[in-house]
Amino acid sequence: MRSDLPYLGSGLGYRPELSETITRAGDRIDWLEVITENHLFAPAEQREHLRELARRFPIVPHGVELSLGSPREPDGEYLRALAELVDEVDAPWFSDHLCFTRTDQVALGLLAPLPRTRELARDLARKAQRIQDSVGVPFLVENITYYVDLATPIGEAQFITEFLEHCDCGLLLDLANLDINARNHGFDPIGFLDSIPVERVVQVHLAGGIDGRGGELSIDSHGESVPERVWALLTELLARTRIRATLVERDQNFPDDPAELLAEVDRARTALLGAHPAAAIR
Ligand SMILES: [Fe+2]
Repeated sequence: MRSDLPYLGSGLGYRPELSETITRAGDRIDWLEVITENHLFAPAEQREHLRELARRFPIVPHGVELSLGSPREPDGEYLRALAELVDEVDAPWFSDHLCFTRTDQVALGLLAPLPRTRELARDLARKAQRIQDSVGVPFLVENITYYVDLATPIGEAQFITEFLEHCDCGLLLDLANLDINARNHGFDPIGFLDSIPVERVVQVHLAGGIDGRGGELSIDSHGESVPERVWALLTELLARTRIRATLVERDQNFPDDPAELLAEVDRARTALLGAHPAAAIR
């Protein structure tokens, strides 16, 4: 994987509901992640808004519909539009998920987990490499949450490792997803960090979920403040490697007072710079 990726610092996921906060408190936000599909084939006016944001912030497109895990190759038109978008905002990388979101006939409307075999991990790595090569900047792949853990030959950490060993893409490690999966499926998240190639983590997501079924099940809502468990995982990760960017990801239940989200962005920056004071110097 390229070692010259820029240091972006502490960012916030762009959502229309946060537009005012981002405009007013832009000096406390180092960069923005935008949802790829909201902009790919958007009307000119919306693209202009994105270009405006790109003049103020580094922008990274984060997709939800690439469906890396589908058997067929990604749509050529989608990839061309993605490359154009990346070029337009001068994105240092782009990201999507290690999952599938569609079959040949049906868009599932959710991020579905994959049958974890070494063979599939290698196939997806080759496909991810082709995607990265065609878009022209590094492709980061994100770990998802899953609520049913099918009996598969290898575990999630092994699947991710096998994937990364067969391509030079990076990992977008969602620490909230890691925390939720660890609690729902009873594994040690620190052991997970110790068994993946952490040096391939370029960026993390920080978010909060909710507890369902009387506390028996953790749910990935991305609608709560970042819990201490997730901050602790960030500390553990930063003790193991130097990453380029953190991102506070809030998808719903936006707080009335933006101070809460901005405090999280500040806290992530402090953690990044506290662990690697020279990180901001390229
Ligand atoms: Fe995420």
